[in-house]
Amino acid sequence: MPKPGAHEITTRPKAVSINTIDWKNVQFSALVAGWPCVLGIEGSGTVEPVGERVTSFKPGDEVMSWIQRTQFNGAFQDVYKAHESVVAKKPANLSFEEATSIPITYLTAAATIAVGLKVHIPGLPTKDTTEAPLRSILVLGGSSGFTHPSRTTQISWGHVTLERSAQQDAAILKAATPQGAGVDAIIDAVGAGSAETAVYGALREDGPKLYSLVITRPGVDLPEGIDATLVGGQSILDENQNAMKYLNKLLDEDKYKLPLNVEVVGKGFQAIETGLGKIMKTSGTKLVVSL
Ligand SMILES: NC(=O)c1ccc[n+]([C@@H]2O[C@H](COP(=O)([O-])OP(=O)(O)OC[C@H]3O[C@@H](n4cnc5c(N)ncnc54)[C@H](OP(=O)(O)O)[C@@H]3O)[C@@H](O)[C@H]2O)c1
Repeated sequence: MPKPGAHEITTRPKAVSINTIDWKNVQFSALVAGWPCVLGIEGSGTVEPVGERVTSFKPGDEVMSWIQRTQFNGAFQDVYKAHESVVAKKPANLSFEEATSIPITYLTAAATIAVGLKVHIPGLPTKDTTEAPLRSILVLGGSSGFTHPSRTTQISWGHVTLERSAQQDAAILKAATPQGAGVDAIIDAVGAGSAETAVYGALREDGPKLYSLVITRPGVDLPEGIDATLVGGQSILDENQNAMKYLNKLLDEDKYKLPLNVEVVGKGFQAIETGLGKIMKTSGTKLVVSL
């Protein structure tokens, strides 16, 4: 049994997620500092021993977690450790398979909005945010789990959906915006901007020119001349350690719903390989393994 540090929680997973980063780690060691390594960045299960400074969780609690550093602490093992700030209580109405599908999608969505777009999320204070509403946002990869406005903010926004080819032509993008003026901000969920630089031309000349880029690979260069921020799940935790507690509040109040369809690819650790074989051909669906 791994010994938890002062602020750590050990968890026996009942379900784990398969994320694209797991595939990237296997294929080209994207975030792996060295092998051997235990992969797996999300899990849900039952709490085992907790560290001496942990007050919000106790053995036997049902939880869901994001695992930040997977070197030896990945979720794909009998018991994993995670810092208490990346653990949330599993709502009773969700299965373990549903619960494991939430943490990184939620954290990334929150980071994209609060850190990347600097929009104040009520109840989740972060640095440098503004109440000033953004009038229009271009979302690249809008079918991704964390970008659809109704998933991320539960606000029903008016929106126009464009073909992916529109990314090659700023005029087409601008034409789809109110009065053809361009957008205040871009959320890039798929790293599309580096290949399709015309998208930056869709930003309104006299607007805040915000560009919120989700980390999709190491070594990304940010474009110059606009207010660009690279974000991932950690970005929101760096600014607010209570982000996972806030997730529990949103779930309790039914303000955050399951972001993606959940597909169980199999049962037992051997099914992880099945999931890894499927993940890059899957979108809009969270692949999970029951344990
Ligand atoms: N999920 C997370 O919480 C999370 C967190 C941090 C980082 N990331 C990274 O973010 C990326 C997206 O993750 P995801 O889980 O949301 O993937 P996903 O479920 O596959 O969603 C991505 C969607 O964007 C579309 N797409 C792909 N490339 C595009 C492009 N160049 N322009 C427009 N649309 C494009 C895809 O369409 P097609 O299927 O037709 O290609 C797909 O519908 C991955 O690189 C992942 O590693 C994800």
